[in-house]
Amino acid sequence: MDQRGEIVVERPPDEAVAGPRYRRLETCEIEVPNPAGLIIFGASGDLTRRKLIPSLFRLSRNGMLPERFFILGTSRVSMTTEQFRAAMEEAVQAALPGAFDRQAWDAFAGHLYYSTFDYGDPLAYTAGLGAILPRLESRHQTGGNRIFYLAIPPTVFEDVIHNLGAAGLSREDRGCSHVVIEKPFGHDLASARRLNRLVHSFYKEDQIFRIDHYLAKETVQNILMFRFANSIFEPLWNRRYIDHVQISAAESIGIEHRAGYYEEAGVVRDMFQNHVFQLLCLTALEPPAEFTADRVQDEKAKVLRSLRRFPRETLAEHVVLGQYSEGAVDGRDVPAYRREEGVAAGSTTPTYAAMRVFIDTWRWQDVPFYLRSGKRLAGRKTEISVHFKEVPHALFPDTVTGPIEPNTIVLKIQPDEGMSLTFQTKQPGTKVCLEPVPMTYSYPRGVLLDAYEWVLLDCILGDHMLFTREDSVELAWSALTPVLESAGQAPLASYAAGSQGPSEATRLIGRDGRAWRPL
Ligand code: NDP
Ligand code: BG6
Repeated sequence: MDQRGEIVVERPPDEAVAGPRYRRLETCEIEVPNPAGLIIFGASGDLTRRKLIPSLFRLSRNGMLPERFFILGTSRVSMTTEQFRAAMEEAVQAALPGAFDRQAWDAFAGHLYYSTFDYGDPLAYTAGLGAILPRLESRHQTGGNRIFYLAIPPTVFEDVIHNLGAAGLSREDRGCSHVVIEKPFGHDLASARRLNRLVHSFYKEDQIFRIDHYLAKETVQNILMFRFANSIFEPLWNRRYIDHVQISAAESIGIEHRAGYYEEAGVVRDMFQNHVFQLLCLTALEPPAEFTADRVQDEKAKVLRSLRRFPRETLAEHVVLGQYSEGAVDGRDVPAYRREEGVAAGSTTPTYAAMRVFIDTWRWQDVPFYLRSGKRLAGRKTEISVHFKEVPHALFPDTVTGPIEPNTIVLKIQPDEGMSLTFQTKQPGTKVCLEPVPMTYSYPRGVLLDAYEWVLLDCILGDHMLFTREDSVELAWSALTPVLESAGQAPLASYAAGSQGPSEATRLIGRDGRAWRPL
């Protein structure tokens, strides 16, 4: 890395060289995609500004994008290419403070274009894109590989996919045609199925990239390596040794400027259907036959298929939904959810959920998985903690510190990425005084590529490992249907902003004689 913390790489070799090309990032070889054009629908939006363009800039600056590459931004806003470049320059400066590099920006900006676009007008796809794309492809010699990235509200997905397909833009006559679909994929099981059917009427599964950016976080990618590249953990990874598992995705931020979306979604759709369930799958899946996207997806689907159904009659014993009231976060007073701008005064949208789920398989029978996620909690922490059973025989009954704490493995997804194993040791100088000590590994310099950099690289490369497959998406919606149907009917638990969550969630896990790890 250089002084700005940016990754230093060798200059790209000649792209005419056949076969996959790699860049060395520290000790890793990362494949560089083939020449391509990336078309972003929703280029005036928040995601493009905060994530996509900054990530693409960093990739380009580090030599991870092909030189023969262009980005065409589109949206309803009227703007020239020059204005778009200026807006994106501002966005990159805001997203990467201190890491802006004028020379690298000028080189990148030369690959950026903009076109005003009406998503509902079929002519915009045939006559519009039909004219612009060949021009850009000829200028940048991209050879017809096209990636269509849908960074638009989910309400517009169907129109765009239909119009792309009807215009023949899903065909792969001259190069690849990939479609990248942002989350949420559907609003419930029925709409996810409809969207899957629609997208499949024009695209094959291997052309479709459904985003769950959690899968692309380094520490999430690490879960499989941790489990299957070490022989010491996997023999213990089952009901015989594990008492329970906790998965937490806690945020201290509120809904920020996304009230319109969040009011419709709520935490179950926003975080559980995708991110939290994907973490559950990676923690619980059986070893895949080989480390390929499809075999890993097969195992994830099996986990979701084995989830015990939530009983509708006694749902409250398994699920707590909550909403934050006013409170303080990081020493700052913040309003209740219902007082946030754009939120209805009587909104029943849950901003917190805790669930107790079981996976009905030989490996996991009767091992509870406690899942929780929420906005405006005491801290930002995403982690998976695996709690082992107590020692079978109390050989040291009169330890000074009380009962012997069971061993725990914590996979820290963010922040402070790393992992730790807690075990008991004898305190020096005492006869029987045990002390739990952590053995910790921290990622030394943070991550090499952030989640959106991985997502962008892989959707161009055509690698599905970090994306979700049709069956998993539908299985996750199906499992959550009773919870979604109960929202608005059951009373919502309340929790103060900046707290650990509702007391009902403490009771949910407490009834089983267990406690949440503090946030
Ligand atoms: P924005 O609300 O900022 O809008 C994105 C783009 O969609 C804008 O270019 C906007 O164009 C366009 N748009 C908005 N409404 C319509 C409409 N009715 N018809 C046509 N175009 C419209 O959304 P985000 O950028 O926040 O999100 C984009 C996608 O990414 C969504 O699917 C979201 O769920 C997902 N996502 C976003 C995250 C984020 O942090 N922002 C995180 C994870 C996923 P115009 O300027 O013309 O209105
Ligand atoms: C998004 C959700 O998918 O993930 C947001 O829509 C949430 O509500 C975000 O804040 C969390 O992502 P991260 O990477 O900040 O943990």
